[in-house]
Amino acid sequence: MRNLSERTAHFTDSVIRRMTRIANEYGAVNLSQGFPDFDPPKEITDRLSEVAKTGPHQYAITWGAQNFREALAKKQEHFSGLKYDPNSEIVVTCGGTEAMMAVMMSIVNPGEKVAIFSPFYENYGADTILSGAQPVYIPLVPPAFHFDADLLEKAFRDGCKALILCNPSNPCGKVFTYEELKVIADLAIKYDVWVVTDEVYEHILYKPHTHVYMASLPGMRDRTIVCNSLSKTYSITGWRLGYVLANPEVIDRVKKVHDFLTVGAAAPLMEAAVTGLTMPDQYYIDLQNHYTHMKNLFCNGLRDLDFQFIEPQGAYYVMMDVSEYGVKDDYKFAEWMTREVGVATVPGSSFFREDVHHLVRFHYAKRDETLNQALENLASLKKKVREAGNSVDWR
Ligand SMILES: Cc1ncc(COP(=O)(O)O)c(C=O)c1O
Repeated sequence: MRNLSERTAHFTDSVIRRMTRIANEYGAVNLSQGFPDFDPPKEITDRLSEVAKTGPHQYAITWGAQNFREALAKKQEHFSGLKYDPNSEIVVTCGGTEAMMAVMMSIVNPGEKVAIFSPFYENYGADTILSGAQPVYIPLVPPAFHFDADLLEKAFRDGCKALILCNPSNPCGKVFTYEELKVIADLAIKYDVWVVTDEVYEHILYKPHTHVYMASLPGMRDRTIVCNSLSKTYSITGWRLGYVLANPEVIDRVKKVHDFLTVGAAAPLMEAAVTGLTMPDQYYIDLQNHYTHMKNLFCNGLRDLDFQFIEPQGAYYVMMDVSEYGVKDDYKFAEWMTREVGVATVPGSSFFREDVHHLVRFHYAKRDETLNQALENLASLKKKVREAGNSVDWR
């Protein structure tokens, strides 16, 4: 048989999905993979029932149904103050995942460099490989996750064509301040670099942190390529609805790439999701309150159990510091913890390019009973670590 592609030969199984499998195997509470275990808003699912009867059930226009793009443009203007033309500046994709892939394929030639802040969402690694890009990692240093502007400038000076900016950040929960974004924007303008943002957590923020849209900074509207999604904002990760916002030249290219990748997002789901995009402000206030409740429940629980962790500013993940247990191999530690303690987590080093092995990531978009069960199980962690002594394979 002929060999398979070299480009994908080094792809590993997603660590997150692997941890999910291990969680299922041992019946652990799964705080590894980022999806809610509560229902989407009833208005959206009710509308989906109607759409099941009325349609549409056939292909929508490849770059997204007209009413969906119009609703997106309105929502974006409402929150960011920026106008996007629904016809020439928006493409609807199959999730934020396809949005990022289509953008990378549209702007990068094989061998060109793309800067990525590390820790990073794991798909960016695969996106760069599939598009032939060469990633250049810029550390966000824990626990504050600050970056060194000189390193970023060096990366841009050395020829990076684009920067991927996840804000609010998965996995570290960082929300970039206006001042930080201004530093990035000024450098992007100086070195003529695209800024590709991933803003899927734009509405999941904890006071006093607020989301600043990179595209709203001076000179950044046409240089910023926004990737976003309805997955997190409306708790519909399975619907696979995302989008790209950018200037018409970029969008013209993304439309073509998207057409050949997937043809289009699911027409009935777009129709039903318009209900979400047109929800009043109160929906987003309630969403933030709900997430603040889940974050507080889980983080206060961790604090009560005397665990060290980094308080998230946005998104729905928390990184716990496990250095006090002498963890050398966080992959093995995460597997051990899932098996012995009954809570699945993601080893932090899977997100970092630097040598960081002392963090694990929990996801907390869960019902109270799920989080309480996870905390109850975690209460035994310190004791089980003591009992395990040196016989564990993660030391
Ligand atoms: C930062 C980030 N971007 C994109 C995605 C994927 O979004 P979607 O479900 O829209 O493909 C996720 C999902 O966890 C994410 O955390």
